[in-house]
Amino acid sequence: MCFVTRHMWETQLREKAVEDWDLVQTLGEGAYGEVRLLVNRHTEEAVAVKVVDTSQSKECADNVKKEVCVHKMLNHPNIVKFFGHRKEGATVYLFLEYCTGGELFDRIEPDVGMPERDAHRFFQQLMSAVEYLHSLGITHRDIKPENILLDDKDNLKLTDFGLATMFRFKGRERQLNRLCGTLPYVAPELLSQSEYSAQPADIWACGIVLTAMLAGELPWDQPSETCQEFSDWLQKKTYLPPWKKIQPLPLSLLSKLLLPNPDTRITVSDIKKDRWFTQGSQKSTGNQVRHTDVELRSQTNSNDRMQFSSSQPDLAAGDWEAMLVISSADGQVSFSQPTKPEHMLLGSQLVGTPGASQSPWQKLVRRMTRFFTNVNAEASLSALKEVCDGMTLGFKLTCTKQVTVSMLDKRNNKLIFKVHLLEMSQRVLLDFRLSKGDGLEFKRVFVRIKHKLADIVSTQKVLVP
Ligand code: ADE
Repeated sequence: MCFVTRHMWETQLREKAVEDWDLVQTLGEGAYGEVRLLVNRHTEEAVAVKVVDTSQSKECADNVKKEVCVHKMLNHPNIVKFFGHRKEGATVYLFLEYCTGGELFDRIEPDVGMPERDAHRFFQQLMSAVEYLHSLGITHRDIKPENILLDDKDNLKLTDFGLATMFRFKGRERQLNRLCGTLPYVAPELLSQSEYSAQPADIWACGIVLTAMLAGELPWDQPSETCQEFSDWLQKKTYLPPWKKIQPLPLSLLSKLLLPNPDTRITVSDIKKDRWFTQGSQKSTGNQVRHTDVELRSQTNSNDRMQFSSSQPDLAAGDWEAMLVISSADGQVSFSQPTKPEHMLLGSQLVGTPGASQSPWQKLVRRMTRFFTNVNAEASLSALKEVCDGMTLGFKLTCTKQVTVSMLDKRNNKLIFKVHLLEMSQRVLLDFRLSKGDGLEFKRVFVRIKHKLADIVSTQKVLVP
């Protein structure tokens, strides 16, 4: 009896622990709904939860069913892990691996890109994910930097299987006809033909991602001959941007990835033989495990009093990453001491759990679209309004601590983003999040706003004891 009671008590305790998840922050928003970060109060495991409201349409409900069905089949180091799902009324929750490194987009400096060696490694990992998917007969159909996340070791993780589908079953392949994806990333045959093959279309999107990584810009709005930039590419005018910013070896691979004819477009197996792709592969492989600065520091300083700093980078070329330590305290995002300092060392000890190598303390989120101000929330808000008015951007206070900014970008596409004002450690953080539109254009606008707000942007380093 005593055993039964104790057993029951332990089970209850375990269940309670499992249920005690704090919502720490919203990680992203999309047409589907939101992705939020949950941290377990007891174990400090972190998971991302994608919240989908299926009440809008039957199509939405069917899509999420398919997303679950596809995503749960997948197990690959370069694909976000799917932990499970739950349905409550019309809301579906998808529990996913939390990627502390954020979006690949945030590693791309507008008009510049990223160091070629980083792009090379990310591209190798992207190919590994795509090869795996295709080997299972699955196509992603919406490959773009917003759907590519990074973990704490900067390993690439493909996510969002909302548009994925089966193109091969029991060895039989089918042609697809649904026009889907994101226009700058879609392959030309999707716009010109009623049916298309799945694999070359994914490969094309990978070519656009590689261009964005190497040049910091998207080559065209859409791959149709009415689009000047696309017809320039067809005419091999590689002396024009973005191509002129790209070295000959990766440019040669791009010319094979972005071949308009899907039948002659390079395949994954030939990409793996490409000179640029294989470059340096004797020395290191794309999937080699890497340690972040934080991990290295936590190894070397494990007996010291820890200090992390979050400086405000001056967003000059190459100095792109704002580092922030996010910790959870009562569900609030704040700068604070780790609740249990020993969690600083847990990296190698928690292997196998979703939160392996994570403690909230270690969540170094590298995002550049945020900065601290040196004035209070009210003054920050009015300075932001003045700058937006001066730039003729739509400015709307959507909550007391949230502004929605809207505009048309240089290609006349709608760009909408939100600015959250977060008060932390007696300072105000302005956190800019894209809601709709081109992510690179969003960053360009962010940089202009930040520049105009230079007087109130804090340059003080944040030291966490
Ligand atoms: N944004 C969207 N999904 C995410 C995830 N799984 N981890 C981190 N950020 C995300």
